[in-house]
Amino acid sequence: ADLAGLNTFGLPARAARLVHVRSAAQLKALIAEPAWAATPRLVLGSGSNLVLVGDFAGTVLKVELAGRRLVAEHADAWVVEAGAGENWHAFVRWTLEHGWPGLENLSLIPGTVGAAPIQNIGAYGLELAERFDALDAIDLDSGQVRTFSLADCGFAYRDSVFKRAPGRWLVSAVRFRLPRPWRAVTRYADVMQALGERSIATPDALDISDAVVAIRRRKLPDPALLGNAGSFFKNPVVDAGLCAHLLAAYPAMPHYPQADGSEKLAAGWLIEQAGWKGRDLGPVGCYERQALVLVNRGGATGADVERIARAIMADVEARFGVRLEPEPVFVRA
Ligand code: EPU
Repeated sequence: ADLAGLNTFGLPARAARLVHVRSAAQLKALIAEPAWAATPRLVLGSGSNLVLVGDFAGTVLKVELAGRRLVAEHADAWVVEAGAGENWHAFVRWTLEHGWPGLENLSLIPGTVGAAPIQNIGAYGLELAERFDALDAIDLDSGQVRTFSLADCGFAYRDSVFKRAPGRWLVSAVRFRLPRPWRAVTRYADVMQALGERSIATPDALDISDAVVAIRRRKLPDPALLGNAGSFFKNPVVDAGLCAHLLAAYPAMPHYPQADGSEKLAAGWLIEQAGWKGRDLGPVGCYERQALVLVNRGGATGADVERIARAIMADVEARFGVRLEPEPVFVRA
């Protein structure tokens, strides 16, 4: 099966087998097949956080489990649930239209509901973990269904137990806990600025969603028009000593103090300073409006993506002594 249309980077690759998963029963039957235990698996949502470096010798499970519902309405929270195959942004807008706010800062993030907890998506001052209730996942070794609580998921910055154990779990449904009364999250400077531009002093959740959509459209390439996988590197966390040393040489460097005393740096800033913003290497470019995003200018392969990523990492390390770490999931033969 051809995977080129199933990853937003538009990288060419093939899989030995592709299964569209539309029910738990269908998955159970697959897991019961004698050859299953020895088959490599790749769980796929809409392929928006993926770098395909080669053909995949196993089975690709394209998750298409549908459904959205209000699970409970408590005095202090709404609980909403969606099937893993639902489109993330459509789900966010659906909650807002029904008067269940809380996910608005995560508007327009590409991908599916089931993929969202894998890398603990986050943007504009909010992380999925802060609105998470529980999820159901199918153990791809045994076929058993297990419910994961917040603690079970081991969420960290763009990370979870699921990302650390690829091919083990297939998330089937996710529940979100949306606190009442709702409070706007406007701590991110870009969001404040976008609301200011519209003269909105007391934004509701839809205002914030619209502001986030506008910011993302301005800075981030639409994968439907220009292949990409969102942020290509994590923002590196360094010790306070290295941060202070860098600030002496670069007083304007963005840095965000962490609870443990370390400092998170802006990878996009480091890459821009290293001269990569807007530059191409072969068919892959460092996006001109957000240096943290690599884009497929046309006809790129996974090897082309790895080549520019290595070159950027080497330059940033040589200049700042900071090692960048890729953020998407890499799939190799
Ligand atoms: N910056 C530059 N040059 C650039 C890009 C950024 O100097 O080319 C500077 C900005 O001026 C700012 C700082 O770096 O001072 C941070 O930039 P921005 O607010 O654009 O966010 P980011 O840190 O680059 C992160 C997430 C995004 C998320 C935004 C908004 C990661 C890896 N990325 O990007 O998430 O949308 O914050 O919250 O944490 C993703 O994970 O795929 C993603 C797009």
